[in-house]
Amino acid sequence: MANLYDGKMAAIYDAMYQTFVNYDEEYAFYNNLLQENNCSSILEIGSGTGNLAKRFDENKQNYQGLDYSESMIEIAKERNKNCSFIQGDMRDFKLENPVDAILITGRSTSYLITNSDINRTFDALYKNTRDNGIIIFDFIDANRFIPFITENVLITHEAVYENVNYKRDSHWDVNNSLENFMLDWSAEYYTVVNGKKEIIENDFSTVRVFTLNEIELFLYLNNFEILKTIDRKTYAYDTYVIVAKKKP
Ligand SMILES: C[S@@+](CC[C@H](N)C(=O)[O-])C[C@H]1O[C@@H](n2cnc3c(N)ncnc32)[C@H](O)[C@@H]1O
Repeated sequence: MANLYDGKMAAIYDAMYQTFVNYDEEYAFYNNLLQENNCSSILEIGSGTGNLAKRFDENKQNYQGLDYSESMIEIAKERNKNCSFIQGDMRDFKLENPVDAILITGRSTSYLITNSDINRTFDALYKNTRDNGIIIFDFIDANRFIPFITENVLITHEAVYENVNYKRDSHWDVNNSLENFMLDWSAEYYTVVNGKKEIIENDFSTVRVFTLNEIELFLYLNNFEILKTIDRKTYAYDTYVIVAKKKP
């Protein structure tokens, strides 16, 4: 997990995801949920290169970002000079003051690979939200994702950013040697110049996808009440978004 978004990978991530993800839409989606629940102070976990931060900042909202990767934070800070970003781990962090809402965006929950990672994260979310505060997060739906990657062995993504053509070939393997629904993900990133592929980076990581039932149980055990479950298609994967309230 630690090296996935480090160094050169952070810049490549930023270039490619600008074209995969419609961050205006993403912002509108999360902001509607925040407004519906009267939340004004917001922490975004997995704030990455600060694309949502930019929208929160433009709308003068009380926003902070938190991310594990210093390289991602560096890009986020460059993009958003007025925003506050904390380098930290969602499994163990402490804010100066609890907030109204904590978001975990961009399927960053996929990096919580053990049950202990998930329980520690929900515990940290509980402690860092105010009474009746809410959490909003997305996760990849195992029931749809595993059949999808079993049938689609090689997944290619293409993106053009600042006149450079990028390609990413990804390959997923279901890793049955580990507990839960774990996957090994290998990706090759390259640029295409005059029709010629030039490899720029290889990436390998182990990630986890979840069933809705698993998440419901984890939330129950960590004293959160689900307010809303949204079935949401994102650029490549079917996800669920959960809005849950902290119970007293
Ligand atoms: C797929 S990216 C999503 C970035 C951003 N939300 C977006 O949609 O562009 C996942 C992010 O989660 C961060 N991350 C992974 N594990 C983390 C952890 N334990 N604590 C905090 N951030 C973490 C990574 O550094 C990365 O920036």
